Amino acid sequence: MSITIAVGAQWGDEGKGKIIDLLGSDSDYVVRYQGGANAGHTVEINDKKYILHIIPSGILNKRAVSCIGNGVVFDFESFINELNTLNSAGVDTEGRIIISPYAHVVMPYHKETDRYLEKDRLSKIGTTFKGIGPAYQDKISRCGIRVADIIDDDYFPVTLKNNIELKNRYFDAIYGEKNKFSYDQIYDLCKTKFSIIKKYVGDVSDVIEEAVKRKKSVLFEGAQGTLLDIDHGTYPFVTSSNTTGGGACTGTGISPTKIDNVLGVMKAYTTRVGNGPFVTELFDEYGEHLAIQGHEIGTTTGRKRRCGYFDALIAKYSVRINGISTIALTKIDVLGGMDRIKICVGYKHKNTVLDKFVPLANILEHCEPVYEVLDGWEEDISEIRSYEKLPENTRKYIEYIEKITGVPVSIISVGPKRDQSIFR
Ligand code: GDP
Ligand code: IMO
Ligand code: MG
Repeated sequence: MSITIAVGAQWGDEGKGKIIDLLGSDSDYVVRYQGGANAGHTVEINDKKYILHIIPSGILNKRAVSCIGNGVVFDFESFINELNTLNSAGVDTEGRIIISPYAHVVMPYHKETDRYLEKDRLSKIGTTFKGIGPAYQDKISRCGIRVADIIDDDYFPVTLKNNIELKNRYFDAIYGEKNKFSYDQIYDLCKTKFSIIKKYVGDVSDVIEEAVKRKKSVLFEGAQGTLLDIDHGTYPFVTSSNTTGGGACTGTGISPTKIDNVLGVMKAYTTRVGNGPFVTELFDEYGEHLAIQGHEIGTTTGRKRRCGYFDALIAKYSVRINGISTIALTKIDVLGGMDRIKICVGYKHKNTVLDKFVPLANILEHCEPVYEVLDGWEEDISEIRSYEKLPENTRKYIEYIEKITGVPVSIISVGPKRDQSIFR
């Protein structure tokens, strides 16, 4: 039995989906605690590739029950599409998904507002247009609609009407668009979609409490990554939720004292999709190598991911903010064929060298990376399954990361498939 949080240690897309699926076979419950359909978690099993945006990656394991916690912003459309895709692929979802009644619903007006806000921003964030920011905004403003509210015939019609009236007034005043959203249409949409998902609604917090009491294994599936956290990330170039370990507690109702481990999912290099500072970003043939060999294309939006060297300042920051106790190091196979590999160990800022990450965009924009250079390796390591058989320079690279972070690397991922994994 163990209660583990798996968290993205960089800017998302670290390979969380693959690692969660890998660990899912030992888990009774896999639980999403924040974010929404902005996530894109890839799981490859045999020749099949699944991309999950809102349903936890544990769904592909027969044993695990997938839960969507109160901290998630729930997207009906994305959920129903994913459910249909899984069912058509023969994945049994019956009795294996639980959606918290307290998760806030992403409404059509949230997605539309996301687009308009981004269009009007002078400095673009590069959001996924999944309505994430506006949905969390309404939650915090206390005008949100939760999954359970849809069947509350006192609250739902009044709140929805009020929201739509206000959104329509806003769109009319700012853009001259009259009656942009129709109350009747959105009301019907919510009722229809709710009737499809209602059999999955259940108290996730209660389920987890019972699981803990019965000494079951629970795996919390972080979405996005530490540097996209609304509080600890590279604000304002972040998402609108707490992506870090603490988010698992508020986003599901589990107490911090119940957590046994925090697994940091860390890519062996760095990528970022969307805008914002990125100190180790590469614009040369090494960056090209990472983008091509790593197939670094965004899972949710199809955008090219920006690529750069591994940043030890980010890794150490992530270890601290999340309390990472072990690391799953992913995509290290992608580094094969590089004659030398750099690791960033400091930031040159004006006349000083910083040895700690600072989550301030205006400082990061003016930092130059200070690198340690390690020897690369030529071999294709994607078929290797034991640590000892890895090339010496690959082991040196891994051990360097362990030394600099002070955290053991317990899983090494050498390819997208389940079995392309080395446990230590
Ligand atoms: P997530 O958002 O953290 O779940 O990551 P994504 O699924 O968005 O992106 C990770 C991509 O890398 C996916 O296409 C995975 O199939 C792939 N991947 C995961 N682990 C590995 C690995 O160790 N090696 C390689 N080459 N690809 C990997
Ligand atoms: P997974 O779970 C990488 C980025 C967007 C944008 C910023 C804000 O697959 O790792 P949002 O739509 O959330 O308001 O966008 O956050 N972003 C991600 N980047 N991986 C993700 O999820 C992301 N989810 C959001 O590109 O820069
Ligand atoms: Mg992703």
